[in-house]
Amino acid sequence: MRAILTKIEQASALDRVGDRLQQGVQAVLRPQRVRDLLHGVWLGHPLHPAMVQVPVGSWISTAVLDLMPGQRRAATTLCAFGTISALPAAVAGLNDWAALSRDQRRIGLVHAASNSVGLVFYAGSVAARLTGRHRLGRTLGWLGLSAASTGAYLGGHLAYKQGAQVNQSISELHRMADGWHPVADLSTLPQRELITREVDDDVSVILYRHGDEVTVMLERCPHQSGPLGKGEVQEIGGHTCVVCPWHGSAFRLNGGEVVHGPSANDQQVLPTRVVDGVLETRLP
Ligand code: FES
Repeated sequence: MRAILTKIEQASALDRVGDRLQQGVQAVLRPQRVRDLLHGVWLGHPLHPAMVQVPVGSWISTAVLDLMPGQRRAATTLCAFGTISALPAAVAGLNDWAALSRDQRRIGLVHAASNSVGLVFYAGSVAARLTGRHRLGRTLGWLGLSAASTGAYLGGHLAYKQGAQVNQSISELHRMADGWHPVADLSTLPQRELITREVDDDVSVILYRHGDEVTVMLERCPHQSGPLGKGEVQEIGGHTCVVCPWHGSAFRLNGGEVVHGPSANDQQVLPTRVVDGVLETRLP
């Protein structure tokens, strides 16, 4: 399996289809509000993995009911419910997929193709059950479950091996020792400018001073590790935010909450104190 997955990750032939699909998704899902809704910005976690629980759970339950006598009606209901609920989950997945890196998009494309095949089988299964052809409906359901399981496996690879839609910055904290660390002389920090510094010799943070308040925030973007220190400071919805230069995720500088995706995760802000004019920070 590993060899196959590596081949898919390196299959540049998929990019022709992938690049066109990406442009199509970005053109259709253009309004920022829609994209943020589908990314899960409002939830503070990616929405797609939560939404797929509904079709997957319904389809697995359908398969169990198909093995039991006298459960045709319940199986048909669950099969139809799972099939309908897969559509919004797929749209949320495509929205996330369009902001992934190229190797992730290749795996994501095959993930989407497997799930689409599964969806077609399940749509056929629902049609067969509703017209009284239950044996055919069961067979199509089993085929759909096989295809959707392949899709789920690839989704797991995308998240757990390739780190898609996983918070990419939080592991920085594991490299920071306990206790307070000096970051900068407060008097040298300019007002309302992003400054990048290293904490504990290794962990990159951004500093933003507003009056006597200084925000210390991890520099790597939670979406794909973009350099927030090279981002722009913008006023969004009445909040001062840093906007990632790579894909435009925006985070409030006074708390780290994500305001615009594709990141669905907040950015980590670190506690601060000033001792003898020196700004210090520590693990939260
Ligand atoms: S790396 Fe993608 S938005 Fe920052």
